[in-house]
Amino acid sequence: MNLRETLDSLKQTLNNELSQAVSLEKVEKLRIEFLGRKGSISELMSRLQELPKEERPAFGQAVNAAKEEITSALEAKKNEVLEQQEKDFLESFDCTMQSRLPWQGSVHPINTVMEDICRILNDFGFETVVGPEVETDYYNFETLNFPHDHPARDMQDTLFIADKVLLRTHTSPMQIRAMKERTRSDGSIPHLAIIAPGKVYRRDSDLTHTPMFHQVEALLVGEKIALTHLRGILSALCKSLFGEETKVRFRPSFFPFTEPSLEADVTCMKCGGAGQVEVDGETNSCRICKSTGWLEILGSGMVDPAVFEAVGYDPKKVSGFAFGLGVERIAMLKYGISDLRMNFENDVRFLSQFEMGNSWRRT
Ligand code: DAH
Repeated sequence: MNLRETLDSLKQTLNNELSQAVSLEKVEKLRIEFLGRKGSISELMSRLQELPKEERPAFGQAVNAAKEEITSALEAKKNEVLEQQEKDFLESFDCTMQSRLPWQGSVHPINTVMEDICRILNDFGFETVVGPEVETDYYNFETLNFPHDHPARDMQDTLFIADKVLLRTHTSPMQIRAMKERTRSDGSIPHLAIIAPGKVYRRDSDLTHTPMFHQVEALLVGEKIALTHLRGILSALCKSLFGEETKVRFRPSFFPFTEPSLEADVTCMKCGGAGQVEVDGETNSCRICKSTGWLEILGSGMVDPAVFEAVGYDPKKVSGFAFGLGVERIAMLKYGISDLRMNFENDVRFLSQFEMGNSWRRT
C-alpha cells in the first residue's frame, strides 16, 4: 500500500470505528489513536521522505486536510454521544416523581399543647410576650414577693449561673417584666393582658418531674378585676382544651405573689368526674384522678399588693389576676402520657404517635 492508499484506508477505518462508538471514552481513544503524538497521522507524516520530492507538498496538504476532517468527525461524534446521553437521561427521568421523601416529622405534643393554649388565650385578647430563661433573682423571686430566706424558695431550687443570676424556675417573672415595661408616665392605670409561654428549670427529676419543663403564664391587670373574671377565663380555657363538659373548681392554696391564691382543678377527662370507669361491664375506680373525679392543672390567684408595689403600681387603684400552668401536665392528661420523661427522650416510637393526621390532632 502506498502512502496515499494508507491515508485513504486510515480515514475509512476511522469512519467505521466512529460509526460504532457510543461512549465519550471510545471517541477519546480514537482521537489519541489517530491524532495523538504517536498516532497514525503523525506516523504517516514521518514517512513523507519515502515520496519523491515533488509529490511531498501535495501529500502534506492531503494529510493536513485529512487531519481536519478527522478532527471534525471526532467532534461531531462527541456531540452526538453527549446528545444521546442527555436524551437517555431525560427518558429515564421521571419528572412526576416526588423530589423528596414524604414529610415524616411530627409536631411535639408539648408544642401542640402550648400552641393550643396560646391560641385560645390570644383569641380572648391576651398578648404573647417572651423573656429570658436566664433570669435574675430580682425578677424570679424578689419582686414576686419571695423574700431572701422565705421557705417558698425551697420548692424552686435551680441552677445558679452567678450570684443572683439563675435559670428561671417559673414564667412568673414575666409578670414583673411586662408590668414594668408598661408603666404609665401620666399615672393613669395600666391595663394589660399578657401570656408568657416558655421553658423553666428546677432541681427535680422523677416520673412526674423533669429538670426542664414548660409553663404558660397569664396576667390580667386593670381596674376592678375580680376572682370571677379569673374563673370565667379559666372555665372557657379548660372547656376549649378538654371539651365543653369540663368543669373547673378552685381550692385555696399559697403562692407568695398572689392573695388569695388558688389551685384550679378540672373534671377528670377519663371518668368525666365520676371517679369511676366502666371496663367490660365492670365498674373500676378511675386511676387517672385516683377516684376523686378532679385533676389539678394550675396555680392562680389575685395579684398580691406587694407585687404591684414592687413595680410601682398603686394597689389601691389596680387589681389583677394571674395563673400559671404546666404544659407537660396538660399534655400528659390530654394524651394519656404516663411518664413525663418520655417527652424528652427523642424516642421515635413515642414521637411518631403524634404524627400529623393522627386522630388526636386538631386541624
Ligand atoms: N409560678 C407558679 C409555679 O411555678 C405557678 C403560678 C401560681 C403562677 C399562681 C401564677 C399564679 O401566675 O398566680 O409554681
